[in-house]
Amino acid sequence: MISGIKEYLFIVNKQHIDQYKALFGDGGNLGIKIEYAIQESSGGIAEALIIGEDFLNNSPSVVILGDNLIYGNLLESTLKNVASKNEGATIFLQKVKDPQRFCVALFDDKSKIIDLIEKPKEDFSDLAVIGLYFYDKDAPNYAKTLKKSHRGEFEITDLNKIYLKENRLNYELMGRGFTWLDMGTFDSLNEAQSFVNIIQNKQGFKRNIY
Ligand code: G1P
Repeated sequence: MISGIKEYLFIVNKQHIDQYKALFGDGGNLGIKIEYAIQESSGGIAEALIIGEDFLNNSPSVVILGDNLIYGNLLESTLKNVASKNEGATIFLQKVKDPQRFCVALFDDKSKIIDLIEKPKEDFSDLAVIGLYFYDKDAPNYAKTLKKSHRGEFEITDLNKIYLKENRLNYELMGRGFTWLDMGTFDSLNEAQSFVNIIQNKQGFKRNIY
């Protein structure tokens, strides 16, 4: 929302879609337009681009994972800046203590990404790719060329690797001024809840929490 995007497609599983609809409706009260689509099975994040192809109608897009929380003062200017580029893809990286839970980026000595590794087993890098991705109009077509991974998913990392191979993958480092929480485990969901609670009680406003 703070990067100026007004049209959203919420992709949800069949069991929970009605709860999302009840909570967000058509987005009118937030000043945005929300449509909904079902993801029939856990086919992976990259499948979102295929499900959303008609919705996107050849436009650039942003994919954000529903279980990621991103907060920070510079978020608005960073996202607006990235959104103003219509070419290639942009991923966002942050240093983490537990890189094996994520995709990590490997660099050469010129700060250029040379590889992306999903759920690394070895200590390759502690710079994790967060669940926010900006794509140009080509992403749905690229997503359709992907093969399912060993965990049975169309991996967003494989889509990003296509852009990497074409030398069209950009990245932004999110430094200490940004908070990124992945709420994919009970502990991390609990932590995120405390974080939002602290910010809202201290500052008294909800804006900037997405
Ligand atoms: C997903 C992505 C991974 C990314 C992470 C961010 O992981 O596959 O590349 O680093 O989100 O939250 P998953 O939720 O599928 O474990």
